[in-house]
Amino acid sequence: MLIHLKNVLGPQELSKVQELLVDANYVDGKLSAGLVASQVKNNQELASGDPKIDALNNIVMGNLVRHKVYKRAALPLKIASPFYVCYQQGMHYGEHIDDPVMGASDLADQRYRSDLALTIFLNQPDEYQGGELSIQTDYGLQLIKYAAGDAVMYPATTRHQVAEVTSGKRLVAVTWVQSLIKDTEQRALLYQLSCAREKLLRKQAGEEHTKQVDLVYVNLVRKWSEL
Ligand code: NI
Repeated sequence: MLIHLKNVLGPQELSKVQELLVDANYVDGKLSAGLVASQVKNNQELASGDPKIDALNNIVMGNLVRHKVYKRAALPLKIASPFYVCYQQGMHYGEHIDDPVMGASDLADQRYRSDLALTIFLNQPDEYQGGELSIQTDYGLQLIKYAAGDAVMYPATTRHQVAEVTSGKRLVAVTWVQSLIKDTEQRALLYQLSCAREKLLRKQAGEEHTKQVDLVYVNLVRKWSEL
């Protein structure tokens, strides 16, 4: 299930983020890549100790974790510190699959399973040519290039790539989520059910059928959650 998260960042937040990134000190993205990814990864990202990262995280991650659709669709347990990535002209990220477990390997409490991958678009699609994120799904290839401030969330189990940027530059933040719900299908079912529950709770709060749907949803989350 691909989820389009709209307006994770508003215009003011985007301009603050873009201001922080304008003279950013990028390093080769291969430095953070695993064995397979390093052979196909050709982009730049802020180094992990970059002093701008805290300010960026306050805006980007602060908004993401408050986003209602994100919360319902991800049912997050842990979220990774994101990478702020720049694709200059000629850069791309060839087909790969994300590592299943990420985080500092010597610190057990910082490790997380990557159930979901997220790309947050930080500049407008007409500011660069190419650069589409393509994701192989059961229903064919999906090409994603969203408006600045929007994000896509997709199962990290998929093969995906970023097409070459042929002009301009593509700015994104990428991160991963460990969900309370490990199983992709269960998570998708819960998301569908949560959409119905949300509407019922808003429009028919006192009805018996609303209470039944609410009870089923809440108890399925309890039954399927892994902490
Ligand atoms: Ni990836």
